[in-house]
Amino acid sequence: MSRVLVVGGTGLAGRAVTAEAIERGHDVVVAARRVPDDDADAYVNGAAYVTADLVTGAGLEEAVDGVDVIVDTSNAVGKRAAHVFAVGAQNLVHTAARFGVHRAVVLSIVGVEGSSYGYYRAKAAQERAYRESPLDTRIVRATQFHDFVTAIFERGRPVGALLAPSGTRFQPIAVGDVARVLVDVAEGAGEPDSVLHIGGPRVESARSLAEQWKRASGTRRFILPIRLGGGLGATWRAGRNLVPEHAVDGVHYSAWVDSRA
Ligand SMILES: NC(=O)c1ccc[n+]([C@@H]2O[C@H](COP(=O)([O-])OP(=O)(O)OC[C@H]3O[C@@H](n4cnc5c(N)ncnc54)[C@H](OP(=O)(O)O)[C@@H]3O)[C@@H](O)[C@H]2O)c1
Repeated sequence: MSRVLVVGGTGLAGRAVTAEAIERGHDVVVAARRVPDDDADAYVNGAAYVTADLVTGAGLEEAVDGVDVIVDTSNAVGKRAAHVFAVGAQNLVHTAARFGVHRAVVLSIVGVEGSSYGYYRAKAAQERAYRESPLDTRIVRATQFHDFVTAIFERGRPVGALLAPSGTRFQPIAVGDVARVLVDVAEGAGEPDSVLHIGGPRVESARSLAEQWKRASGTRRFILPIRLGGGLGATWRAGRNLVPEHAVDGVHYSAWVDSRA
């Protein structure tokens, strides 16, 4: 049994990691800026919660004290991304190194390297902060979560549509499958200072996935192809978000949408 700190453990991926690590018998501490009430959805029974802010550094010492492994599942969007991923990761790795934390596992995204998309550049800076630290850093780059792909489709709701990025394929993965890999790596799977890629079981066009969501959800909205501009659109259309050679034998999108419907 190890003491595992899940940074961002109240978020989508973090909650799944927290539950998986507790299930495997680890002693789990969750750090986030807001600690959930024990009847909230974000609360995982058996975890200890610490209020900490990656950007200001408040609470980080308490969070890392006595920890063997950090799993970083923090997230931020817009202008906050650069702060949380670059500044926050620096604050965390320096504090962790001072407190003798041995290993860090970072959840990143397939295709962040070399992309001009601002959020991906922030993720690349986060990876760098860990890589340059004295910690045994293992980066796990995952493809888009089932939930995220669905959220893209649902962006079309205000105009009565499901938005499907044109010329784009996804390899969506279940958050539970990502969590299992992250906990395997936290337990020592893989190599020190390595980058591991994982993707969902199947590569499919955005349109085909949107059709599956349309059928399962029963919506009458039409599928609207959109051309995504900027660095994100370019990265996705080039297929740099795909790793078919690293497909996990996990939950297919079609099964996930049925479970949601
Ligand atoms: N979505 C995808 O398809 C996908 C695919 C591959 C990888 N990823 C990566 O997976 C990671 C997790 O994504 P997610 O969607 O699960 O995140 P999320 O649900 O948005 O959760 C983010 C977590 O980070 C915490 N957080 C935010 N700012 C913080 C700060 N300053 N200090 C401490 N904690 C902070 C949040 O809690 P508080 O707000 O209370 O602080 C929350 O616990 C991200 O790094 C993302 O890049 C996502």
